[in-house]
Amino acid sequence: MATAAVTHQPVPEVLPRHVAIIMDGNGRWAAKRHLPRAAGHRAGVEAVRAVTRAARAMGLEALTLYAFSSENWRRPEDEVSGLMGLLKFFIRHDLAELVRENVRLRVIGDYRRFPTDVVALVEDALARTAQNTGPILAIALNYGAQAELVAAAQRLAERAAAGGMDPAAIDADAIERELETRELPPARPADPHLWRTAAVQFPAVAGGLCRIAVRRHAMARFRCGGSRGGAGCVRPAAAPLWWPLTSSSCV
Ligand code: FPP
Repeated sequence: MATAAVTHQPVPEVLPRHVAIIMDGNGRWAAKRHLPRAAGHRAGVEAVRAVTRAARAMGLEALTLYAFSSENWRRPEDEVSGLMGLLKFFIRHDLAELVRENVRLRVIGDYRRFPTDVVALVEDALARTAQNTGPILAIALNYGAQAELVAAAQRLAERAAAGGMDPAAIDADAIERELETRELPPARPADPHLWRTAAVQFPAVAGGLCRIAVRRHAMARFRCGGSRGGAGCVRPAAAPLWWPLTSSSCV
């Protein structure tokens, strides 16, 4: 890890507005401990709880969790149903806290393909947080970026074919306006001077996060010691109100 001069900045100026986390590494985390994959996923839920709390404490505007991709249906049936169970567990146990903390819950992806009891719980959670005005917690459920782009392109093409728009107006902005992520803030921090600096890093929330890509969303993977991945590596921690800036890409 590169080291660099460390300065301290107030959170709102230096933080990305939006961080997205790919929830992988649960299986590897479990394998390393000779535990079943299900134990890794359970630890993943604990990590979700720790990270969502830390994100709120540090004043992040939006946090997106990639929890279930459209490719995840290919996993064994018992693993998929275990994941559905954990999602239900999370909503049942954490919804009251999200409501109390003024969190705006959002879902991206076609969650309506989930079992009906999961759909009902998700919709209840969305309804109960709909009036909230605070930080956004977006959960990607049955989400596929490629499928979303295809659907957006099709809608725009249909509109153009029907004469509703000029095909030349189909540009990156037009596509972005069609995406489910359109209401989520961009990654870059409010201060434009920090947009391009290497110093804009998602800080180590609790256990260590490595930023892997930044375009519209800051992407982060859990990083624990020397090994990538690992839901269980995130330890609940009181998030400080000031974060160090370094020029390394991983903190
Ligand atoms: C990837 O680990 C993780 C998942 C596919 C599922 C994560 C989802 C949950 C734990 C369900 C609960 C969700 C929320 C938001 C509360 P992996 O099995 O791919 O691990 P590996 O990369 O080590 O193989």
